[in-house]
Amino acid sequence: MDKMELIKNYIDKHKQRFLDELFEFLRYPSISADSKYNEDIINTANFVAKQLLAAGATKVEICETAGNPIVYGEKIIDAHKPTVLVYGHYDVQPAEPIEKWISPAFEPTLRDGKIYARGACDDKGQVYMHIKAFELMMQTDTLPCNIKFMIEGEEEVGSANLSIFVKANKERLKADVILISDTSMISLENPSLETGLRGLSYLEVEVTGPNRDLHSGVYGGAVANPATILAKMIASLHDENNKITIPGFYDHVLDLKTEERQALNSAPFNEEDYKKDLGVNELWGETGYSTLERTGTRPTLEVNGIWGGYIGEGAKTVLPSKAAAKISMRLVPNQTSEEITNLFTHHFKKIAPKSVKVEVFPHHGGEPVVTPTDSIAYLAAQKAIEESFGKKPIPTRGGGSIPIVALFEAELGIKTVLMGFGLDSDALHSPNEKYDLVNFYKGIETIPLFYKYFTELS
Ligand code: BES
Ligand code: MN
Ligand code: MN
Repeated sequence: MDKMELIKNYIDKHKQRFLDELFEFLRYPSISADSKYNEDIINTANFVAKQLLAAGATKVEICETAGNPIVYGEKIIDAHKPTVLVYGHYDVQPAEPIEKWISPAFEPTLRDGKIYARGACDDKGQVYMHIKAFELMMQTDTLPCNIKFMIEGEEEVGSANLSIFVKANKERLKADVILISDTSMISLENPSLETGLRGLSYLEVEVTGPNRDLHSGVYGGAVANPATILAKMIASLHDENNKITIPGFYDHVLDLKTEERQALNSAPFNEEDYKKDLGVNELWGETGYSTLERTGTRPTLEVNGIWGGYIGEGAKTVLPSKAAAKISMRLVPNQTSEEITNLFTHHFKKIAPKSVKVEVFPHHGGEPVVTPTDSIAYLAAQKAIEESFGKKPIPTRGGGSIPIVALFEAELGIKTVLMGFGLDSDALHSPNEKYDLVNFYKGIETIPLFYKYFTELS
């Protein structure tokens, strides 16, 4: 039996169990942003540890941190063989707005061959593919190299405690490559491999006017309204070409070479379908760049939330004392989150009129990365995908962030391969997040091939 047949047979035989187990994983509301779910986080970490152990890992450990635990496990078959470190996250984003879910976020439901649940794609579904691919290799006696797993519970809130763990566990985490499935492909017909992640600087701003909420008739017109001021300040952060107006913001941005831009823009992309899917009549962005460039290679600034005054039912005439917003900036090489956080803070305070007080609170950050396309690991991923999808994957630049990846390189000196099997349309972080069964099983099929080629090429 050839390798592919062996893999397919195993998956076929255990298909339903794989899915049942994934559903169990998805039922835990492991929301890292909200401390109300701390106990669910612990239960989820226990589940991951149990599954790693059952699949054949040794030294499985639930590593305590100042925040959510990190689950570690490994299978060392031969110290002279290469080692792959698999990273993923078991935490998920909040489910809000919950009323927009067709089936509840934490009751995984199958519709039209797709799994609907928070975390279905980001990242529980993709983490589970790795655990099942590992089980498959153990059960069929085909694991060709060493594996280490590190599955964390704080990716969606910036991985601060994982940074500490990585710095303190350099020996334990020694590996030849880091393998991550937490990104997207273009489509099943156009498989792709992401070769970059943007960095992030996330902060909250608060504008304070009068010392209490005021009657908007009695005082309105005489006192600055913090909501109006905040709106104006935020609006001023982009100019007429949708460039960010913070002085120095673009100073260290690396421009892509003409060939790189051409290669990026040659990826399949249908603007009409894109607009239709999102329900917008026109796209928006920095003048002079295509949509793929805007999301993959250019820095951005977005308001993630904005509030102030009365937002309950009906009308209340009030001049609010405070208004606030959550703002994030996506960063590209060679910007750093510290530099951009400082530039923003300085600028935002500077543009504030004297009629209000402005405070800026940094949340978390992450650095941008570009991953190599000429490494053994990249070639192995390329070959594996080509074999399972029947088409050579296209290199793309993703717009999302995985804060720990840059740190892996800086602290451990290990490069990453981003072999993600999700789709941008899987509604990550949105209501009705989904993961196609085809992607799930294709992933389990592709991963053992990666190990095979990576070991052969090493
Ligand atoms: N898996 C995503 C990142 C991602 C998604 C990369 C799609 C490429 C394509 C990850 O879980 C994520 O959402 N990261 C956060 C960063 C975090 C610090 C909140 C993000 O990108 O907003
Ligand atoms: Mn993720
Ligand atoms: Mn995410």
